[in-house]
Order: sequence, then structure tokens, then C-alpha cells
Amino acid sequence: MVLNDLDAVNRSCGFRILLARQARYGHGFGTEATRLILDHAFCTVGLHRIELEVYCFNPRARHVYEQVGFVHEGTKRQALRWEGRWIDAEPMAMLASEWHPA
Ligand SMILES: CC(C)(COP(=O)(O)OP(=O)(O)OC[C@H]1O[C@@H](n2cnc3c(N)ncnc32)[C@H](O)[C@@H]1OP(=O)(O)O)[C@@H](O)C(=O)NCCC(=O)NCCS
Repeated sequence: MVLNDLDAVNRSCGFRILLARQARYGHGFGTEATRLILDHAFCTVGLHRIELEVYCFNPRARHVYEQVGFVHEGTKRQALRWEGRWIDAEPMAMLASEWHPA
């Protein structure tokens, strides 16, 4: 899990997450970890905006992001060439004012 590409002037950064073991998927760890890092980023670090992109072939990740409050900001159509197909990328973001700890 990483907060990356810090833009200090605008107090924004990116977010990425990967659980190392597929066997651990679906037990709530991704949601809990995302909530913890958002709380740290907004409440401790004082960031204003956190953004990410999720590919349309990843509904599990998108569900997690929507569940914690990320807002879909549009579609980057056919942004990725993957196994012979064009894949859309879905930018999502959350503002500090939208963060509501569970
Ligand atoms: C994305 C990832 C971090 C999620 O972590 P996780 O621990 O599996 O997620 P959780 O168990 O907290 O939550 C999964 C949620 O997705 C839902 N879900 C699972 N498969 C789904 C699907 N195909 N479509 C929609 N929702 C789905 C589950 O029901 C669960 O929702 P719920 O809490 O409402 O029941 C993890 O799967 C992962 O590391 N994936 C590989 C890397 C990756 O894709 N990173 C994101 C790149 S943008």
C-alpha cells in the first residue's frame, strides 16, 4: 500500500494497494487497510485530495474504493492494452471533506 506522487503545493497524492496473497482476498483486509491509510493521510498528514485509477476489469477493487467513499470522476477510455483488448481506466478521488471515518 502506498501514497505516491505527492503534490505538496496542492496537498494531493495518489494511492495504490496490493494484498500480497490472493488467498487473503475477500476477508475485509483491503477495505480496512484503505480506511487506515485514508485516515492517516487526511487526519495526520493533512492532505486535501487522494486519487487513483482502477481498470474496468477490477470490480473488486472498485467496490472497495466506492465503499470507503472514493468518487468516480470519469472514464479514460481504452487507456490500457491488455491481452489483446483495450481497457478503460476509471479515475477516482476523495477530498478531505468527504472522508468520514467508520
Ligand atoms: C483490491 C484488493 C486490495 C481488495 O482487498 P480485499 O481484502 O480483497 O477486499 P475486501 O475483502 O476488503 O472487500 C472486497 C469487497 O469487494 C466485493 N467484491 C468481490 N468481488 C467483487 C466483484 N467481482 N464485483 C464487485 N464487488 C466484488 C466483496 O463482496 C467485498 O465487498 P463487501 O465488503 O461489501 O462484502 C485486493 O483484492 C488486491 O490486492 N487485489 C490485487 C491488486 C489490486 O487489484 N489492487 C487495486 C489496483 S487499482
